Amino acid sequence: MAIKELSYVIVETADPAAWDRYLTHVVGVMSAGQSADGAALYRIDDRPFRFRIVRSHADCLAAAGYEMDSRASLDALAERIEQASQPVQWGDAAACAARSVEAFFATSDPAGNGLEFCCGAARDDVAFVSPKGVSGFVTGDMGMGHAVFAAPDFDAMHGFYHDVVGFHDTDMPEFKFSPDQTGPGMRFAFMHADNARHHAVAFGEMPQVPPRCIHLMLQMENLSDVGKCHDRMRMANVPESATLGRHVNDETLGFYMQTPSGFDLEIGCDSLQIDPANWEATAHAMPSEWGHVWAWQNAMEEAQKAEAAE
Ligand SMILES: [Fe+2]
Repeated sequence: MAIKELSYVIVETADPAAWDRYLTHVVGVMSAGQSADGAALYRIDDRPFRFRIVRSHADCLAAAGYEMDSRASLDALAERIEQASQPVQWGDAAACAARSVEAFFATSDPAGNGLEFCCGAARDDVAFVSPKGVSGFVTGDMGMGHAVFAAPDFDAMHGFYHDVVGFHDTDMPEFKFSPDQTGPGMRFAFMHADNARHHAVAFGEMPQVPPRCIHLMLQMENLSDVGKCHDRMRMANVPESATLGRHVNDETLGFYMQTPSGFDLEIGCDSLQIDPANWEATAHAMPSEWGHVWAWQNAMEEAQKAEAAE
């Protein structure tokens, strides 16, 4: 019984064309056509798709899709989630085909964030060719990256992801974002699947947000790819959410930018790989070693400067 990886994400959007421009022109992801049900698909590796973009009336992350190691694991997980009073809806044959998986079910966590769990995710031999010359995305056994959610009830969320689903604690910090280091911090959970990526899912103790996602993360092969992506963000006037920086816990060097659906996308490289079987959970005090100046921090500093000048 193991969670293999973050296999795919499903975004609902009122503006699929904006997502198409964003993924292909800014991120450098490859268009992979449409599935039979009309969703736009995008690939970053040997999975037929990693992003599934669905036209809708509103914008949100509809689901982060995690792959289990077997059908038996998937069935057992569905049972545990139902026992934990979360709804489980199995996908029919057409929905499985649209996701290139053997089987899957949709559910949500205690905060209402959309999740899917699948097994038998297909891989093919179509070469990934970035329309923007990205060397490649670091995926393989570590999955497509990670998803970060809001956790209004932190303990309920941790109980769900740890005890019910089976993710493992990697880093359980309490971050102090304000200059007052004596005040209460914000609890976070960074959790790994059964692979070497530092975290496949994370959540912070904060009110739920309309896009039902804080950010997704993709890992590029090198710093030049990350820097060129940052240039494309700037040229396309995509809002930067956090400047270039390096995280303490997963050591990822990168930046954050807004997606067309309002949540962020973290683009990074040089991430720490862990031994998932022997990892002892840490509790880091700070999210970043350097950099990662958030847009809201900038706005606060500017307001303070303006106030001081009056
Ligand atoms: Fe992240």
